[in-house]
Amino acid sequence: KEDPHHDLGDRQDGAGASPREPLFAAVLREVAAERERVALDDGASASRNFPYLPREVTADQVHLALEHDTNPFTNQPHTAQYKKILKARKTLPVFAHMAEFYKIFNKHQIIIMVGETGSGKTTQIPQFVAYSDLPHIKNKIVACTQTRRVAATAVAQRVADEMDVQLGQQVGYSIRFEDMTEQGTTFIKYMTDGILLRESMHDPELSRYSTIIIDDAHERTLATDILMGVLKTLARRRPDLKLIIMSATLDALKFQKYFAVSSDALPPLFKVPGRTHPVEVFYTLEEVSDYVEDAIRFVLEIHCTEEPGDILVFMTGEEEIEGVCHSIKREVKDLINAYPETVGPLECIPLYSWLPPQEQQRIFDPAPEADSPDGPPGRKVVVSTNIAESSLTIDGIVYVVDPGFSKQKVYNPNTRVESLLVSPISKESAWQRTGRAGRTRPGKCFRLYTEKYFMSELEEQTKPEILRSNLVSTVLMLVKAGIKDLVEFDYLDEPAPESLLKALEVLNHLAAVDDDGNLTTLGSIMADFPLDPQLSKMLIVSPEFKCSNEILTITAMLSVPSVWLRPSKKQEEADAAKLLFAVPGGDHLILLNVFNKYILNQHDKDWTWIHYLSAPALLQAVNVREQLERMMARFEVDLVSVQDQSEMSLSVKQALCCGFFMQVAHKVGGKRNYMTLNNQPVLLHPSCRLDTQPEWVIFNELVVTTRPFIRTVTGIRPEWLFKYANLYFDLRDWPDSETKRALMRVTKKTTGRSGARINKATRGGESGEV
Ligand code: CDP
Ligand code: MG
Repeated sequence: KEDPHHDLGDRQDGAGASPREPLFAAVLREVAAERERVALDDGASASRNFPYLPREVTADQVHLALEHDTNPFTNQPHTAQYKKILKARKTLPVFAHMAEFYKIFNKHQIIIMVGETGSGKTTQIPQFVAYSDLPHIKNKIVACTQTRRVAATAVAQRVADEMDVQLGQQVGYSIRFEDMTEQGTTFIKYMTDGILLRESMHDPELSRYSTIIIDDAHERTLATDILMGVLKTLARRRPDLKLIIMSATLDALKFQKYFAVSSDALPPLFKVPGRTHPVEVFYTLEEVSDYVEDAIRFVLEIHCTEEPGDILVFMTGEEEIEGVCHSIKREVKDLINAYPETVGPLECIPLYSWLPPQEQQRIFDPAPEADSPDGPPGRKVVVSTNIAESSLTIDGIVYVVDPGFSKQKVYNPNTRVESLLVSPISKESAWQRTGRAGRTRPGKCFRLYTEKYFMSELEEQTKPEILRSNLVSTVLMLVKAGIKDLVEFDYLDEPAPESLLKALEVLNHLAAVDDDGNLTTLGSIMADFPLDPQLSKMLIVSPEFKCSNEILTITAMLSVPSVWLRPSKKQEEADAAKLLFAVPGGDHLILLNVFNKYILNQHDKDWTWIHYLSAPALLQAVNVREQLERMMARFEVDLVSVQDQSEMSLSVKQALCCGFFMQVAHKVGGKRNYMTLNNQPVLLHPSCRLDTQPEWVIFNELVVTTRPFIRTVTGIRPEWLFKYANLYFDLRDWPDSETKRALMRVTKKTTGRSGARINKATRGGESGEV
């Protein structure tokens, strides 16, 4: 037996409620009575051990518990809402396969599960597991990872409703900067993959968990991939820990092979057949020049001409989504005014990752009713990022509009800059998107690209994130978790060894690891902050510059989505509003100023609205700031400020240099032209409010749209680079380049010497690495 703890009370006389464990008493009685009846029926001995034991549970027993009047987890009577949702749950394909699930789950430590999006994996499986693990009895938790924040919060809310409990109690979620669980009470926990990875760093045994479910493994996020490697080894050390790897596409064999103990002992595959309806796919005849405009046009056309049924539109980000919603709302109003007899009401709902929770739940609201009993029917449009591709299922979608793009992480190891780029999706993604239209009945998918483009231009599959990400943060976590040999780590898809070495090198420059790759004290604290290493380094050293209060605010502002709103039809007004916050020095100081004004105005929503600022983002920044402040207190990082404004600005810039010395550019020629340390020409982003154009700047982001731009930029003195990152700026090993010459001019000016050091600089340079 895998679990020797028969903690369900005195099961020999299980017919009475056990004083030790009243929680399941009602179920126990019921099940015992049922067994007795069955046993008498088939003449078998009635004295067999009571079977409702952890991990020996059967689907029949769970069905009994589900149908019971009392909630076994709370001992409260089930509500009417519970019964209504249960009826809906029973129609899910996963629910129909409960018996098979328990047969496999009870016998095996690791299971690979495959089921179409919407079949009930995310909502049902953790509950099934809870009935089997009975985690609440042993103070354990069933974890289910999600690849996106919104998915974690939305699904946790749904499952809390399904189980008739309050969110944050028995069922909770944990995402970065937000923990909605209660210790000792929560036993089903939805969490982002990144959070679980972080936990594994502190508690390598993950001893709180009885079962860990990796959901949406097919998305192959960086954190999911690393987690799978960590869990694979952990499963050997902890035979009581069960793992379920869930995926929506049929790459199950890859996961099976990865988790196999030996080549002939693959973990079992639990496959739930989907129940989707056919979807008709339409392509455009010509290439589309503006997919945003076209998507809007398609939505309106569908609304005016197609049968009732909701619409799902894929866009790439918040700004686009808000823009599209705005335009659709306006145009529909005009249409209804012009054709009240034929055009019904249309509700347009945005969905993206930082949407506040109350807003998220709106996507599940039913479509609006017709304005009058015989008026034209209403319809719902959800405009979403690729969250709706496979993480969240919205029922009632019949039409999908797919422009064929999503924002994807792209990392350039040479510039060491990671950016989110609007890129073409893969064929697999396109088919996932199409599938969303066939949930409840046959649907239609409008692809805003030609068939030829689809066939010849789109990749088969999206590349796993680990092969296209900056690994610095991950490597720091692995080192902190005590994983010595990064190259030998068991990756599902191995990153290039050079990428790992580069990441170590960056950590070394940040003084997080020493020359032998061992974690330093600073590195250990850095790893504990839920921030990118550059940010955490800057924050931790900021008291030395007497500006940790200000750096804390800036860090919080850089950790939330952009606070600047720039609606497409109001760009001039938005830009003018932004000018009101201008302060000399640069964008980081402007962010600080915005935050302080927001606090002065007491989080006033009207104030944010007039100034084209995002109220949810600012509120989130306040929240993030508070949490980081608590962490700083824990690690005794002092909170200090300099009063004098210009002194403060100097200190902040110096602290910035301590973290972001690799993201530096210097001016070349006029007109906002700069050159990064590794000689990539870039432009100041139009949003950049630098009043002067300093010779040297530090930037937070490199974004590539029509051209490479640097965004969130602040002027610095180049001497600081040598002062605070002398190892990195040891120019002797730098290959000759325009940037190197510029830096050498700086050293000449400050030290007045040009001799030995610079002559030596001609050596090396073969690697071309900066
Ligand atoms: O994980 P998978 O895609 O297999 O399905 P799921 O997320 O468990 O969703 C199953 C069903 O639960 C959906 O079809 C929705 O009807 C419902 N659901 C919901 O109503 N509200 C949510 N927040 C999540 C799911
Ligand atoms: Mg799911």
